[in-house]
Amino acid sequence: MINVLTELFREAKHTVVLTGAGMSTESGLPDFRSAIDGMWNDVDPLQFASRDAMQFERDLFVRFYKQRIQKLKGARPHAGYYHLAEWERTGEVDFILTQNVDGFHQLAGSRNVAEMHGTLCDIYCDECGDKASSDGYLNDEITCVCGGFKRPGVVLFGEPLPLSAIHQAKMETKKADLFIVLGSSLQVSPANVFPMEAKRNGAKLVIVNQEATEYDSYADLVINDKIGHVLDELVQSNNYKS
Ligand code: APR
Repeated sequence: MINVLTELFREAKHTVVLTGAGMSTESGLPDFRSAIDGMWNDVDPLQFASRDAMQFERDLFVRFYKQRIQKLKGARPHAGYYHLAEWERTGEVDFILTQNVDGFHQLAGSRNVAEMHGTLCDIYCDECGDKASSDGYLNDEITCVCGGFKRPGVVLFGEPLPLSAIHQAKMETKKADLFIVLGSSLQVSPANVFPMEAKRNGAKLVIVNQEATEYDSYADLVINDKIGHVLDELVQSNNYKS
């Protein structure tokens, strides 16, 4: 498997990586739909992570996001993030499209990153847009001086995705001749559209995911293994710098 991935990696001229929550589970952050401990397994995401929840279930909403921000402050990018950042520096990886909101790709040094679902690292007022601190948010400073409600910079269900990030994703997907999915169930659009878009443009599609996805049959290579292990293997067995 790794040898096939190495060949694809070596031959590619423009490699785009799409990451999902599975990229951060080895950093201690839970994903959403893993059979074992996915966050959405026993809750309805619309109850916590939607615009309606923010407006009509404010206490639940604040508690949910305070928990996620707290967890994020205690976590760090694992080695796989640093491999991706090094491969950006050496030209093996051209762009990262992420559904994640933890800012770990940038923290590990990747610069060509499109955050399609926003970021948990920013807090701002939903009314006037004033920026606020996450420490303040953790101390229940959730009302802006303008009277508006402070909220994390994540895209909530029912909100539009950041146009610039989606435009970048479309442009990069068009250029890709190798498209690698790392740790996503590919159940949420439009992120789950890009792998097939790349495939239609003639790119090779690789899916690295612990569980099967509905796009596996279209992929040129599927590796059902831990991302950290796969990326470490790619470094070791192909003397890729990292
Ligand atoms: N290695 C490989 N795969 C993993 C690992 C790992 N260490 N840990 C988890 N996975 C896999 C799981 O098997 C799962 O299929 O990663 C996948 C993560 O899928 P989801 O939890 O659905 O996360 P994601 O695809 O990023 O969700 C997309 O849904 O709720 C929204 O906005 C949220 O961005 C999120 C979007």
